[in-house]
Amino acid sequence: MKDIEILSVGPMYPASLEAMERDFTVHKLWQSKDKQALLAQLRDRVRGIQSFGPYGVDAKLIDVLPRLEIVANVGVGVDAIDLDAAKRRGVIVTNTPDVLNECVADLAMGLTVATLRRISLGDRYVRAGSWLKGALPLGHKVGGKIMGILGYGRIGKAIARRAEAFGMHIVYHGRKPQPDVSYKYYPKLADMARDCDVLMVICPGGPATHHIVNAEVLNALGPEGTLINVARGSVVDEPALVKALADGTLGAAALDVFESEPKVPEALLDMDQVVLQPHVGSSTHETRKTMGDLAVDNLRAHFSGKPVLTPVA
Ligand code: 8YV
Repeated sequence: MKDIEILSVGPMYPASLEAMERDFTVHKLWQSKDKQALLAQLRDRVRGIQSFGPYGVDAKLIDVLPRLEIVANVGVGVDAIDLDAAKRRGVIVTNTPDVLNECVADLAMGLTVATLRRISLGDRYVRAGSWLKGALPLGHKVGGKIMGILGYGRIGKAIARRAEAFGMHIVYHGRKPQPDVSYKYYPKLADMARDCDVLMVICPGGPATHHIVNAEVLNALGPEGTLINVARGSVVDEPALVKALADGTLGAAALDVFESEPKVPEALLDMDQVVLQPHVGSSTHETRKTMGDLAVDNLRAHFSGKPVLTPVA
């Protein structure tokens, strides 16, 4: 398969990248100083793309590569890939579902505990020497709280299992109620936000969920409520979130994702009630390797004439 040329548009776990480079001829666009020149040179040769989360694939890139057959994304979210453009051109798109569920759920639960129990603030407090002057103000108990899950999919279910082990009660909102799920379903997001203590955002990004967590939802979550976002920055109206946190309409937040990553709204940096992370839901050696290997396996399957393992439906 060495004669097959793959364009890598975003970084990937080193061992998986090496495996891809053993089997294919790989060109790393993300390392190139002159991307346009590299694309012009490769345009009639590239048959596959390996992408990574935010390093997506737009219609322009698909159009510029006439021999493109497959985009293998490292990541479950494909909101940065123009799926319509891929479909029009008959380009297969694959992602890496399931293999990251546990790590993303670990971070989601970690952020829940960190926010309610003020773990990041406590760390800053000790380092700054503030403990010498007095005790850290009290946090909130995790057990007994209601977690409202926005997007009760594969990762949402892994989060629910963890939250239940911490004694939390689960309710959920999505496009429709799911069969065989005993948790209360809310057809309206604002109603769920009103009734829950922690709103956990773990739905896909993209136009269908753009800013669905808006001022009305944040207001409903209220001054005792906590927002956790481990999905996509685009799901939350960020200016409305900053305003709600600043004026106390919303109690607290933990954010792993932002609207213009890696840029984070300046106002959040000084807020003690906010925990910030640099989009690290799947960032463990184990999971990033499994994700990278799955993307390479999808490329191998396709170019050996077999069905891909994890196509995007
Ligand atoms: C990111 C993710 O790709 O799988 C996804 O959709 O959001 C993550 O795995 C990764 O964290 C890089 O931003």
